[in-house]
Amino acid sequence: MNEQNIDLVIFGGLGDLAGRKLLPALYQIERAGLLSDRVRLAAVARDPIETKGFLDYVEGRLKQSLASADWSESVWQKLSKRFSYIGMDFSNKKHFSALNAWLDSDRLVIYYLATPPSLFGAISQHLHDAGCIASTSRIVLEKPIGHDLASSKSVNDTVARYFTERNIYRIDHYLGKETVQNLLALRFANRLINSQWDNTCIDHVQITVSETVGIEGRWGYYDQVGQLRDMVQNHLLQLLCMVAMEPPNSFEADEIRAEKVKILRALTMIDASDVEQCAVRGQYAAGWIAGQPVVGYTEEIGCSQKDSATETFVAIKAFIDNWRWSGVPFYLRTGKRLGEKATQIVIAYKNQPHAIFPDRQALGSNRLVIRLQPNEGIQLEMASKKQTLKDRLSLEKRLLNLDFFDTEGQDRIPDAYERLLLEVFKGDQWLFVSRGEIEASWRWCDQLIGAWQDKALKVHRYSAGSSGPSKAELLIERDGRSWFGESTLS
Ligand code: BG6
Repeated sequence: MNEQNIDLVIFGGLGDLAGRKLLPALYQIERAGLLSDRVRLAAVARDPIETKGFLDYVEGRLKQSLASADWSESVWQKLSKRFSYIGMDFSNKKHFSALNAWLDSDRLVIYYLATPPSLFGAISQHLHDAGCIASTSRIVLEKPIGHDLASSKSVNDTVARYFTERNIYRIDHYLGKETVQNLLALRFANRLINSQWDNTCIDHVQITVSETVGIEGRWGYYDQVGQLRDMVQNHLLQLLCMVAMEPPNSFEADEIRAEKVKILRALTMIDASDVEQCAVRGQYAAGWIAGQPVVGYTEEIGCSQKDSATETFVAIKAFIDNWRWSGVPFYLRTGKRLGEKATQIVIAYKNQPHAIFPDRQALGSNRLVIRLQPNEGIQLEMASKKQTLKDRLSLEKRLLNLDFFDTEGQDRIPDAYERLLLEVFKGDQWLFVSRGEIEASWRWCDQLIGAWQDKALKVHRYSAGSSGPSKAELLIERDGRSWFGESTLS
């Protein structure tokens, strides 16, 4: 078989994820000239429409979401010729024969399951029963994989009956972000950084993923899940791994994934005895975002439980029990309907052992701020001499700035899904999550959720547009520290 002949089959081709992320990503890959001529595409969904109807829908969605300068009729013509639409019910195994008829046994097939995870098992089984799986077939699974450790094992076990681990691509789209991959370059290609990356130099780490969006019409899904399962179990813990892992032997998938698993397994469990000190949950009430009024979580469209205690905000103080990070707190914070959209990692260095400058302490210690979105870049806060004749030797804070967007001179930073789709085509799993990682992170989250339940801890209200509940500030201020950018967030 020629591995270049690839069929990508998207289950859930008319769904939200396909419309918002996958189809625009395929368009951009085509536009960049990176989509091999040998790739065919199929969208699979329930609606009984023809390929022409599907293409009209895709064209409309793309024109809506792309910047007008990105639209090119010739790119669209090329992309649209690759597509077929197959209308079928995923839960009915008889319908899989239509897919089988479209497939060509000489081509490598990739199944992308952009569907609710509850369908992963059934789809895999029907694919198998209909003879649609070869030993080379790949499957791409969207998060969440399960709801807890037990259910994630069950999903993974079912899929593993039909696909080998090296053909399973579990997506965490944060790993597809340019700036997340840049963490590897920053840490492992720069001796200066690498040599100062442990508990002798670093005081603490902050990882913040602050969102302005609410639950975007997903109340039914979100209320069963909450921010811990939706964001921490995957995205924030993956970021934490990228910051904390040891240098892998190489950038081969197995090497990187093995290092990440070690970190996840070394996370100190938070139990009922310390959960109150180490974790805060919040839920947004009505407020204002960008000058517009927004409703509270339990007034969102689709809300069926006015007294829901599902969290839309989490702040956690975590520790990694290993040689490098012993004693260094990792403060994690993420929430919906906060005052600004910002994903950033702050590495806060320790103070100098002895203060020669009277004003050094007041300036604070060095901080390395890694902005993942928006305005991707890296900023190092340094103390520098004030340029003045008035003082003898006084200090001020200056910034060393590396702005990825400006310096790269690109018109846009590629979306995570563009990179991830290309990696699946290439058959490289380095940006995908292994089963071991999924299970280790669920084990830690399950323990935390259990501790919350045991203590029946309150979910604190915060106004939409704020920086979260005041208890989250207390979590870090109790340790004599504060969240970076608090003044800009609130
Ligand atoms: C998704 C979550 O995985 O990530 C959403 O399900 C969240 O709730 C989104 O809004 C955030 O992604 P990004 O790339 O916008 O930070």
